[in-house]
Amino acid sequence: MNEVINAIKTRRSIRRFKPEQIKDEEIEAIIEAAIHAPSGHNEQPWHFTVIQNKELIDHFSLAAKKAMAESEVPWIAAMGKNEKLHLFYNAPTVIVVSGKKDSYSPLIDCSAATQNMLLAAHSLGLGACWIGLINFLFSMEEEVKKLSLPEGYEPYFAVALGYPDLEKPPRPIERKKDVVNYIK
Ligand SMILES: Cc1cc2nc3c(=O)[nH]c(=O)nc-3n(C[C@H](O)[C@H](O)[C@H](O)COP(=O)(O)O)c2cc1C
Repeated sequence: MNEVINAIKTRRSIRRFKPEQIKDEEIEAIIEAAIHAPSGHNEQPWHFTVIQNKELIDHFSLAAKKAMAESEVPWIAAMGKNEKLHLFYNAPTVIVVSGKKDSYSPLIDCSAATQNMLLAAHSLGLGACWIGLINFLFSMEEEVKKLSLPEGYEPYFAVALGYPDLEKPPRPIERKKDVVNYIK
């Protein structure tokens, strides 16, 4: 099968990581894939914060979970209160994706860049998981400051990255099929 389609179809969210840090070349290849995403009006309005400081990653996990625990949405509150849960699954690298607020379509463009990162990670044999729940952290100004973002950018989500700690590759999950109509 075509290798791009194969990578798209075999990628899965990975939530178990080895503690060993990934290589700088791997991060560079993943960021390179991210910046080749399409963007509205070609504004390329993204910024990536690569965090490899375990103390900060653990702190962000705890702080976000504390906010999640207060959520009115029961499953989010339950995740926030789950002591065993690490928001980034103890991944050794977390990449926060931020967008330029006054650009044309920053959230969409950053989403495209994020999917490129997930696919690049998978194609390199790394595991990755899109972490949307980190947005609970982003409502806290003092936490956002720790990201040292350039002026005018706001964080949207994160990607947890590392070597997968799995005995065998995860199985594909059922996809909804009835999602297309054709007009010829
Ligand atoms: C916008 C978005 C936010 C997500 N946030 C989280 C998250 O906070 N934690 C998590 O474990 N997975 C998160 N995921 C991963 C989804 O749960 C996952 O993609 C979905 O269950 C399908 O599984 P797959 O990625 O293995 O195909 C997120 C995915 C997207 C697209």
